[in-house]
Amino acid sequence: MFFDRPESGEISILVHISINSESERQDPEEFEELAISAGALPAAYLKGSRRHPSPNYFIGSGKLEELSAAVESHKAGLVLFNHSLSPSQERNLEKHLNCRVLDRTGLILDIFAQRARSHEGKLQVELAQLEHLSSRLTRGWTHLDRQKGGIGMRGAGEKQLELDQRMIRARIKGINKSLTKVRGQREQGRRARKRAEVPTVSLVGYTNAGKSTLFNQLTNAHTLAADKLFATLDSTLRKISLPNFGTAIMADTVGFISHLPHGLVEAFRATLEETAEANLLLHVIDASNDAHLEFVNEVNKVLTEIKADSVNQLEIMNKIDLTEESTPHIQRDESGKPVRVWVSAKTGVGMDLLLEAISELLGGKMAEEILLIQPHQAKLRSQLYEQGYIEEEQINEEGLYQLRVRMPAQELERFLSKGVVALPNTCLKSSQITGEATEILNDNIHTATN
Ligand code: GTP
Repeated sequence: MFFDRPESGEISILVHISINSESERQDPEEFEELAISAGALPAAYLKGSRRHPSPNYFIGSGKLEELSAAVESHKAGLVLFNHSLSPSQERNLEKHLNCRVLDRTGLILDIFAQRARSHEGKLQVELAQLEHLSSRLTRGWTHLDRQKGGIGMRGAGEKQLELDQRMIRARIKGINKSLTKVRGQREQGRRARKRAEVPTVSLVGYTNAGKSTLFNQLTNAHTLAADKLFATLDSTLRKISLPNFGTAIMADTVGFISHLPHGLVEAFRATLEETAEANLLLHVIDASNDAHLEFVNEVNKVLTEIKADSVNQLEIMNKIDLTEESTPHIQRDESGKPVRVWVSAKTGVGMDLLLEAISELLGGKMAEEILLIQPHQAKLRSQLYEQGYIEEEQINEEGLYQLRVRMPAQELERFLSKGVVALPNTCLKSSQITGEATEILNDNIHTATN
């Protein structure tokens, strides 16, 4: 809008130079993935090494010609550098190559701009983009001014620059004002949820792990009609109904990227910090990606940085439709606590197990029992079915329903108080109804009627 820049094209050339003096090494493979997830089609990848970046073009003259030839032969509209470029390097490159050039921060901002879902997220991205742009605008235009120079031109150029800078400053001020308002509303919502004791489950994970797909899969199937308390929920917060637990709020967050430029961590700190207040983190992992263990580490590093490392975490091994391990299941630690669930957010396989694991981790202590249902309790039996508590059903010799159930202990108490009878644990493993069970039931009926 402020620059007359070449249009961004899909066909792109990637550039990665190993710089001896660079303290943080960027991963060239990851950069290619980032480019693809931003919608670019990498046609060539130029790699090389240098002791220091060259001040004018970052790369040396030989590489510049190589890059120029690659842009021409692939008819590329975009060149992506896996580095931070100074505004003048970016503009020099654009002029020389006659196509758009983006550095690593620019690319990540572009991905964030495409992916930001909440109103606040969008505002934060725009703010970060404007701040990124304003540094470029100042120095970029100063450079142009000097070039134009001369009588009559200088004033106009300076005026234009001042005008653009003023517009940017005004927009930044406006965004900051809106952000303050949005944050206030979010804080209010959070307090209301706390008062109502509704737990929050936050999705975290490396970019492209499948968080949004999972969010949609879980919330579409389980969204309840909005009531007053939740009517003003942010678009990234949805109510989910957990079969064995009740209501929880699910929050979607921005994807994590390794070596996130420092300015961007700052820009998104407020959103990320909310993660630290969640009752449970669902760490979505792309199990089909060979590098997933590294990504898990990267995400955990960010979680530590935002002080969310002490929040209870459930790992979700996603995309099992693409892996050998294709059966959905829950992995538990020695104490029986769920630590990992294998699912496919795309096909929906394993969602029931995931919901069960979430319920358990949110504090729903589970109980396993065999219940006997008398003929007049058919309504209670259908309630148990609706809640998905029944694992197995048989009819005994007396014609009574014998149900093997797995449900929150609290819920079990509720059913027992309504006159449903539980058999002792000795009967749990047996799939045969025993005479003993009928006796217990008769005793109970006897005691109840006396
Ligand atoms: P960011 O917004 O970058 O943080 O990504 P995300 O984690 O929200 O990932 P998203 O849900 O956008 O999914 C990324 C890609 O993976 C999309 O193309 C999805 O269709 C795909 N995907 C997600 N889940 C699965 C899955 O279970 N199986 C397969 N095959 N693809 C999946």
